[in-house]
Amino acid sequence: MTPRTTFPEDRYTAAPFVPDRADLTALREAAAGCRGCPLHRDATQTVFGEGAADARVMLVGEQPGDQEDRQGRPFVGPAGQLLDRALAEAGIDPGEAYVTNAVKHFKFTQAEPRKRRIHKAPTLREAAACAPWLAAELALVEPELIVVLGATAGKALLGSSFKVTEVRGTVLEREIHGRPERLVPTVHPSSVLRADDREAAYQGLVADLDVAARLLS
Ligand code: URA
Ligand code: SF4
Repeated sequence: MTPRTTFPEDRYTAAPFVPDRADLTALREAAAGCRGCPLHRDATQTVFGEGAADARVMLVGEQPGDQEDRQGRPFVGPAGQLLDRALAEAGIDPGEAYVTNAVKHFKFTQAEPRKRRIHKAPTLREAAACAPWLAAELALVEPELIVVLGATAGKALLGSSFKVTEVRGTVLEREIHGRPERLVPTVHPSSVLRADDREAAYQGLVADLDVAARLLS
């Protein structure tokens, strides 16, 4: 049976598209066809997580941006470049991390066709719909540590009361999708790009990533 592509908001879910007993390659292929919520309609493609199945650290962002949507890879645009620099400065090799997003399709507004596409935050329902993909990635990668990048990822993993300002740079231990996980939340790298004092915001991100790096050393 082909799952319906139009359904009410409270029925959004990727679950019927997630294969059982799949490896990362099979998951990625299945995610390319996800129709679990309406975000697939306007986006170019699914942007699935990237990295080794035995990565020790998983980085979870919000959703792909404009560049990620075009290239089909997470964190390849300006926020990703800043993140890679901050990771390297903290002593975490970006190439050894598994990098993904809470939501796998780019959500945007566009004043007119061919005008710039402006990022729009996904709703809690959209993030909840997409959660089965993240749960499947976590179950396969079994990271020692999850770095939570910003509020959308935080709410997706830790619940809607998550506030990044309250817990950034701390180590949380929670059961997530039935598994005990260790998490270090920090700000989203895009927020550094938007900050009035970019240097201070960047140093704050690096300081939080230092906490993660120490746990991995
Ligand atoms: N912002 C995110 O949260 N994820 C990306 O992949 C790119 C930008
Ligand atoms: Fe599926 Fe997630 Fe894309 Fe919605 S955002 S269609 S749940 S992959």
